[in-house]
Amino acid sequence: MILETERLILDTWQSTDWTAFRPIATDVEVMRYITGGVPWSDEQIRSFVDRQIELYRTQGFCRWKLLEKPDRNLIGFCGVGFWHDTKEPEIGWWLARPCWGRGLATEAAVPALRDAFERVRLSRIVSIAMPENIASTRIMQKLGLEFDSEFENEGVRLVKYAIDRAAQYAGSVGN
Ligand SMILES: CC(C)(COP(=O)(O)OP(=O)(O)OC[C@H]1O[C@@H](n2cnc3c(N)ncnc32)[C@H](O)[C@@H]1OP(=O)(O)O)[C@@H](O)C(=O)NCCC(=O)NCCS
Repeated sequence: MILETERLILDTWQSTDWTAFRPIATDVEVMRYITGGVPWSDEQIRSFVDRQIELYRTQGFCRWKLLEKPDRNLIGFCGVGFWHDTKEPEIGWWLARPCWGRGLATEAAVPALRDAFERVRLSRIVSIAMPENIASTRIMQKLGLEFDSEFENEGVRLVKYAIDRAAQYAGSVGN
């Protein structure tokens, strides 16, 4: 099962992918609005990848790995997972720094969101970010998600945006 866009392939993970994902998850700039700039350990990276494999097997969705055409280099992820220990499907995206600012996260998120609604039949998807992460909240808005709430987790202020399946077909996605 893969999804494809003009510039990207969205694919499922293999355990061995963790080494290709490591430069992204240990880049302090990538991690700025995730851990406050603390790189993930190898154990966290392996566990993330294994979680995606298990998520896809049990739920039919995951945070797809992103391969850039034509070389198929792993440049990040985009897709739905569970945020921390919640049971709320949450869409998210991380890209390698050289890939920022080219519209790639949005390009990946449009089919990832559509797939989660149409094939997986999720009824509601949220997205969570630090409010300072303007690029991320901008993508949420471009996808048609609407502001839901502001909350605090472990002393960090976060915003939650959300979209229901019915609203996805109101016409805003992809514009
Ligand atoms: C968030 C991230 C995935 C965005 O990737 P991207 O491919 O550059 O995103 P896109 O180009 O698809 O869209 C970003 C939008 O935000 C805008 N934007 C980016 N930085 C901005 C800033 N500092 N201020 C205002 N707008 C900004 C862009 O202009 C674009 O909007 P536009 O299409 O209306 O011009 C990338 O920056 C990243 O990997 N960051 C580190 C990981 C991360 O924080 N992930 C999100 C965790 S919640």
